[in-house]
Amino acid sequence: MTKSKVVVALDFSTIIQAKIFIDQLDPNLCKLKIGKELFTVGGSSFVEKCINLGFDVFLDLKYHDIPNTVAKACTLAANMGVWMVNVHCLGGRKMMVAAKDAISNFQHQPILIGVTILTSMHQEDLNEVGLVGSPKHNVIRLAKLANLSGLDGVVCSAQETSLIRQEITTDFCLVTPGIRLEGTKTNDQQRVMTPKNALLSGSDYLVIGRPITQSQDPIATLIDINNSIS
Ligand code: C5P
Repeated sequence: MTKSKVVVALDFSTIIQAKIFIDQLDPNLCKLKIGKELFTVGGSSFVEKCINLGFDVFLDLKYHDIPNTVAKACTLAANMGVWMVNVHCLGGRKMMVAAKDAISNFQHQPILIGVTILTSMHQEDLNEVGLVGSPKHNVIRLAKLANLSGLDGVVCSAQETSLIRQEITTDFCLVTPGIRLEGTKTNDQQRVMTPKNALLSGSDYLVIGRPITQSQDPIATLIDINNSIS
C-alpha cells in the first residue's frame, strides 16, 4: 500500500481520457478514486487494471440498498481488491452492519467509509426529505451511527473534521474532498482547505480532483502536495 494521503478523483467520462491521465501518474505518489461516472463506462475491469498497475483504489459507489444487496456488492468490491469502499449512512444501521460483516473476513479488508449528508444538500433539501435538524447536526448524528455500526470512518468536509473528532474519540478515518492548493481556483467547491490545514484539522485522506487532473504537470503537482504535507 502506498503511503500517500492524496486520493486523486478520476472524474473522467471516458476510459481513454482516464488511461491517458493515469499513464502520467505514479502509484507511489497517490491513490485513485473511481466513482459512478467512470465505473459506469469502465466497470470492474477498469478498477482491476488500476489495482494491477499498483494503485490503491477507493471505489466511490456510495452503496444504498437493502442490507443483503449492499453486503454482496461490498463482498465483490473486496474480491476486486479495492483499498476503500463506501456506503450511504442513510441506508441505516442494519445495512452498515451487513456491509462490514461481509468484508470482515477478507485478508486485505477494504476500509469501509460512510457518506453522511451530501454536501450538495442544504437545509431546505433536508426539510423536503423529512430530515429534522441542520445539515451539521445530521452529519454528526450519522457519523456516530456509522461508528456504532462498525464502519471505519466517513467522508466529510475539512470544516467538519474537528467537530467529528470531538464527538467520536475512537479510531475513525476521515476522508475529505474540497481541497485546494494556496492561490488556486476553487471551481464549484464552496468551502475549501489546503492539504496541510485539512490534515492538521484531523483529515486522514485528501480527495483531490481538478487541481491534479487539470494540472499541466500532474506529477509535479502531486510531488508539491506530498511535500507540503510530509
Ligand atoms: O475536483 P475536486 O477536487 O473538486 O473533486 C473532488 C471530488 O470529491 C469529486 O470526485 C467530488 O465528486 C468528490 N466529493 C466532493 N464533495 C463531497 C463528496 C465527494 O467534492 N462531499
